[in-house]
Amino acid sequence: MRRNQQCPYDGAVPPTPAAAPPERVDAGRVILRRLQASDASAIAAAVSASLEHLRPWMPWATGEAAERTNQLGRVAEADHNWESGLGYVYSVLTAEHGTLVGEIALHPRDSGQSVELGYWIAAGQARRGYATLAAEAMTSVALSLPNVTRVEIHCDAANSASAAVAQKLGYRLDRIEERYAEAPGESGRLMVWLRDRQRPDTGRAAPSPGP
Ligand SMILES: CC(C)(COP(=O)(O)OP(=O)(O)OC[C@H]1O[C@@H](n2cnc3c(N)ncnc32)[C@H](O)[C@@H]1OP(=O)(O)O)[C@@H](O)C(=O)NCCC(=O)NCCS
Repeated sequence: MRRNQQCPYDGAVPPTPAAAPPERVDAGRVILRRLQASDASAIAAAVSASLEHLRPWMPWATGEAAERTNQLGRVAEADHNWESGLGYVYSVLTAEHGTLVGEIALHPRDSGQSVELGYWIAAGQARRGYATLAAEAMTSVALSLPNVTRVEIHCDAANSASAAVAQKLGYRLDRIEERYAEAPGESGRLMVWLRDRQRPDTGRAAPSPGP
């Protein structure tokens, strides 16, 4: 997730609350389950062990985020956002042992027509395909939500690991925007990767819903 671990909606106009995604999604070797208070300790521990890995890209990756009380506050905020349709945060757990390995979130944008995916995987669990599996499942979930016609992954141009996840999943690079670097590894060039909803009959992108 880029801006903030709490995943708030940061647009001026709140999205139209739409049908919420499922609270649990099976993604093969990982399970995505709605963030809950009992995850707070595991998330704090994963963040604590991953600070060097996360800090270049995640502005929220500070010692504070490695504290359980801080994570409990996040869960409360994530609950509020879930119920309001402002955002959906999941814990990424291994299917085998239920180990928490990271988080993934859906952020409605553009009045609900677009969804942005954000994710992080703990340092000790990286390069096992978990982000790819989680993002693939969440892309399908997002594209099945009413009115959603595209899913976006935003990552800094220097973040080759995140860009590789988007590429592996068939996202296309739509544009690169200049922006203020928010985290120490960022170049200030934001890649916007897109996946459109396909029309089943033609394979072409479906049109956006009318006004
Ligand atoms: C980006 C991130 C989520 C990837 O998680 P992951 O579970 O390691 O990713 P995957 O194992 O699914 O790897 C997918 C592909 O990304 C690329 N990749 C992953 N880590 C990489 C690295 N450190 N360097 C270069 N490429 C990397 C590889 O091409 C990999 O495919 P391969 O293993 O078949 O070669 C993880 O590195 C992370 O949490 N980084 C810090 C937070 C962050 O940047 N979040 C995204 C913000 S936009």
